[in-house]
Amino acid sequence: MPTVTFLPSFRKVEIAKGSTILEAAQKAGFHINVVCGGQGKCGKCKVIVKSGRTEFEHEQYESILSAAEVEDGVCLACQAKVIDDLRVVIPDATLVQEQQILVDSGEIPTTLNPAVWKYFLTLVPPSLDDQSPDLTRLLWEIEKSGGPKERSIYAPLEVIRRIPRVLRESGWKITATVALVPGGYRLIHIEKGDTASHIYGAAVDLGTTTIVVYIRNLADGHIMGIGSSYNHQISCGEDILSRVTFARSGGLQKLQSLAVDSINAALTEASNSAGIDREDIYEVVVAGNTIMTHILMGIDPAYMIEEPYVPVVRRYLTTAAQRIGLGVGENSGLFIFPAVSDFIGGDIIADILASGMAESEEISLLIDIGTNFEVVLGNRDWMFTCAGAAGPALEGGEVLFGMRANPGAIERITIDPVTLVPSFSTIHNQKPKGICG
Ligand code: FES
Repeated sequence: MPTVTFLPSFRKVEIAKGSTILEAAQKAGFHINVVCGGQGKCGKCKVIVKSGRTEFEHEQYESILSAAEVEDGVCLACQAKVIDDLRVVIPDATLVQEQQILVDSGEIPTTLNPAVWKYFLTLVPPSLDDQSPDLTRLLWEIEKSGGPKERSIYAPLEVIRRIPRVLRESGWKITATVALVPGGYRLIHIEKGDTASHIYGAAVDLGTTTIVVYIRNLADGHIMGIGSSYNHQISCGEDILSRVTFARSGGLQKLQSLAVDSINAALTEASNSAGIDREDIYEVVVAGNTIMTHILMGIDPAYMIEEPYVPVVRRYLTTAAQRIGLGVGENSGLFIFPAVSDFIGGDIIADILASGMAESEEISLLIDIGTNFEVVLGNRDWMFTCAGAAGPALEGGEVLFGMRANPGAIERITIDPVTLVPSFSTIHNQKPKGICG
């Protein structure tokens, strides 16, 4: 198997002959810009081959590579195939750089209505006069404490197995966690002692480029911590169409696990900032565009980018969060916002709910600019909405000086209303390199 050595770090990786340099770089842990999803169209994945043989038709890419670049050994990482041992330089401009992620949030007054509850219970131990089984005794106590009726609570086997030990080791003082699930209620956890105040939910904004997680205390409703991450799927294509193309060529599982990794990274940051244990997150709610949520759930998005543009599912989805790999409490629920259509996803439904425009008589215009751009116009009686691509067009895909929110991007321009003198600020106050979307 050929070895590819990446410079200047001298990181080495072995890769099957015929694999692309891009695949070798990803295996070595580099995040390379793949704006077009590896189709050889964008020229953002340029690398310099210093030594070794590759299979790469320079003539095919004359519009992307200058004669001087070809002379210097520059090729496209997504198209150049590894034939034998290589030494490859990855220029800084080819790597995905650290970005500024907007995480500000105003706390919107909401009525707390979680789908999960904790009950601190003190049970009467069994006796010869009362030989009720442990589970029945526990569920009765939940009902007596104001919880759902004993018969409506389903208890999964893994929780039942823990009951006898936890009850006796705790001196019959335990906290039971019950969740609302389709068709009834579910006993999802039992713990020793009183942990009723340790109950948290995570709201996840699953964007095409970035992911933001908010941790909310489900006992009093406060936002306790915020975390963010890139969407690691960027290494498989920057825009939504490139991701679907990647999924179509057998990459769905990889995209799904990259989305989960990204959410877990943001969850860790948010839990650390909140000072809580991720195991105490019992409810995860995800809002994202329809393609992103399909990929997160491992559902094939292939038919959403061709006529007649049909998603597999539009209704809300729910499952155990750990089932797709999210690092939260055992049996914690995952809820995916429903979508309206292929192009109008659960992120817009979340925007509409959070803005309150669905309850207002006044006509409002809601604009959500991200990698995609959505607009909703209307009030409580009617709404019109439309969507299109936004971010990639501006952020380095089509506009010469467009770039992502990297250091050096102009993020704010002000014109003094009196003197008309313009001024600007850049991310990290670096010399301006371009304008970010
Ligand atoms: S040309 Fe290689 S990712 Fe676009």
